[in-house]
Amino acid sequence: RACSLFGGALVTPEAPADLILTTAPATAPAAPATAPAASATAPAATLAASSAALPGSAAALPGSAAALPGSAAALPGSAAVPAVPAFASGSGEGYRLGRRGAATVVTADGPAGLLYGMFEVVRRGEAAFDPALPGERHEPAFGLRVLDHWDNVDVHPVMGQVERGYAGGSLFWRDGRLRDDLTRVGEYARLLAASGVNAVTVNNVNVHAGETHLLTDRLGEVAAIASTLRPYAIRVHLAVNFAAPVILGDLPTADPLDERVRRWWSDTTDRVFATIPDFGGYLVKADSEGQPGPFTYGRTHADGAGMLAAALAPHGAPVRWRAFVYNHHQDWRDRSTDRARAAHDHFAPLDGRFADNVILQVKHGPMDFQTREPVSPVLFAMPRTRLALELQVTQEYTGQQRHLCYLPPMWSGILGFRATGDNAPTLAAMLSGAPGSPAAAGSPAAPGSPAAPGLPAAAGSPVVQQQPAAAGPSAAASGAGLGGAASGRTSGGGVLSAVSNVGDDPFWTGHPLAQANLYAVGRLAWRPDRDPTEILDEWITLTFSDAPDRLRRTLHTLMDDSWQTYEQYTAPLGVGFMVRPGHHYGPDVDGYEYTPWGTYHFADRDGVGVDRTVATGTGFTAQYPAPWSDRYESRDTCPDELLLFFHHVPYTHVLRSGVTVIQHIYDTRFAGARRVAEMRSQWREMADLVDPAVHARVTERLAEQLRSAEEWRDQVNTYFYRKSGIPDAKGRPIH
Ligand code: GCU
Repeated sequence: RACSLFGGALVTPEAPADLILTTAPATAPAAPATAPAASATAPAATLAASSAALPGSAAALPGSAAALPGSAAALPGSAAVPAVPAFASGSGEGYRLGRRGAATVVTADGPAGLLYGMFEVVRRGEAAFDPALPGERHEPAFGLRVLDHWDNVDVHPVMGQVERGYAGGSLFWRDGRLRDDLTRVGEYARLLAASGVNAVTVNNVNVHAGETHLLTDRLGEVAAIASTLRPYAIRVHLAVNFAAPVILGDLPTADPLDERVRRWWSDTTDRVFATIPDFGGYLVKADSEGQPGPFTYGRTHADGAGMLAAALAPHGAPVRWRAFVYNHHQDWRDRSTDRARAAHDHFAPLDGRFADNVILQVKHGPMDFQTREPVSPVLFAMPRTRLALELQVTQEYTGQQRHLCYLPPMWSGILGFRATGDNAPTLAAMLSGAPGSPAAAGSPAAPGSPAAPGLPAAAGSPVVQQQPAAAGPSAAASGAGLGGAASGRTSGGGVLSAVSNVGDDPFWTGHPLAQANLYAVGRLAWRPDRDPTEILDEWITLTFSDAPDRLRRTLHTLMDDSWQTYEQYTAPLGVGFMVRPGHHYGPDVDGYEYTPWGTYHFADRDGVGVDRTVATGTGFTAQYPAPWSDRYESRDTCPDELLLFFHHVPYTHVLRSGVTVIQHIYDTRFAGARRVAEMRSQWREMADLVDPAVHARVTERLAEQLRSAEEWRDQVNTYFYRKSGIPDAKGRPIH
């Protein structure tokens, strides 16, 4: 395309420009039919809007070297990339796409918007040049869209280099230090920018001794990553160790109310910003699973977070403080302790006591990234606190990137959940401050919708509309404005965070098709109401350029419902876990049943499930606002797919589908494993349409998925048959 870029570098090809990218809305040169005069002095940046430049495209799949992202030709020229201060303002991500005369014009609010607009044009390909292209405004629903890497600098003896990573080693670190060659980090940045992500945390939330030094004497390594990400409007965040002042040997205490400690954080933070002026902020896991925190000093989480917030406030940056705090030394004999309650019990009483630039980061469910959980009640209990939603793209409990599991249908159900009634705002709208997201309009959209296969759609699937879900990007949310904004769920902000699924694997994500999850999380952060199927379709177009219909259809068949398929052969009806302790892969029904981790299913000869009711159980249902507190409390109104999360029921309890719980367990385990066998055959048929290396990797993964699904089927079915003594009504083999 003949392309002109105003407001940045200027490209003036011979032909009249038919694509204009400008950051100067009102004053952009008007006459698209004739190219602006060539300027000898202008930097000759090349914005290659050809398919070769597709972000996250064929691109993302190795095998065709020419298409690799980050190949010099495909990168926006560095001359077109603004320097630090432009992005440090944290705004300007929105843009307008439309036609002017014979040209397609992107009119961006700022440099970042220019980048996003360019990617939108690339995404649309020829369609972006349709003379009938309607004018559209695009802006992200969530202002801060961050991927948290659980990467260790050193290889951890138990967790490896990337904690819960299933795609090889770290993209950033190798042999205990920053990689010499950051080319791939630059390619990753481009991939992320193409999906709309604007921040990356470069180290694990469990901050070990070595990683603690990234904050101080090893800050240069973080700065080098920041420079590599910056051209793509991506800022760097650091996970910090609450005990850093002690671990680094500077002070005898990390007490957040001690003046010396507060000064230490403030001075250290000043040095961080002196080195990385557009540094994004801190992420903290405190008093959780052995990490240090304010409890050691008899202080609250508001005190701890407040100390870091004070250090960051002069720089306009936030601290994300994780709400994942629970007792992991629980006594399994004690039926009154309930891990699901923990985050709400700890944090809800602190509402209103967090500083303005504290963002409380809450896992999407009350337990721990299970295949099916209700939405965490913490997200509705703290109206005077900034809240971030934390998703897990890395498939810790959803098949570890060996199983195909397209997660956006789960995420859509979460983002579209309306906690306070069927006409209330969605979670996405609440978190982003939008006046009302149309996601799930007209649908009760229970968490966990859509319903699991084999169950009627009790709660209904989110109904997707094609309007932007949330208003205004905000300067605030990208960092700079956070400190000054009013407290509460302010408009135009919101934070969507997700644990990354990327490593140094040549396919980025281990399972090549798991790239779709990575892509989708960024897209949903822009438009939470988008239909996951439509996002997948977009990803297919970008990834398998010129995908013939047969391939496109098959990918949809394999992926659209793959989360539900995974659910069918693993732990039933929302009860969760049943995985091998430690690594969390594969079935082990009683693996956690008598451990201190608080993740039980309580199966006995008569029934299964956790009684979390107020009437007879742990009282967890009361943490929800009405009407969900009532709906979850009663077996009659609790969505079937979450029945065992909230209730202990007899195996003979009849579900809405008309089958008993025990028969449902058998039926769905058989159906799930059978479906995986079909998936394998369907993929085999694609051999002639897909790059051989990609085809081979997916084939190998599907073989493992089938083996594992059959193991799940047989262990779960056998376990419940032996407990209950109730045979399968259909007489299938159970051992
Ligand atoms: C899970 C996961 C851990 C992780 C933790 C967290 O428990 O298994 O590896 O550290 O979540 O989110 O902090």
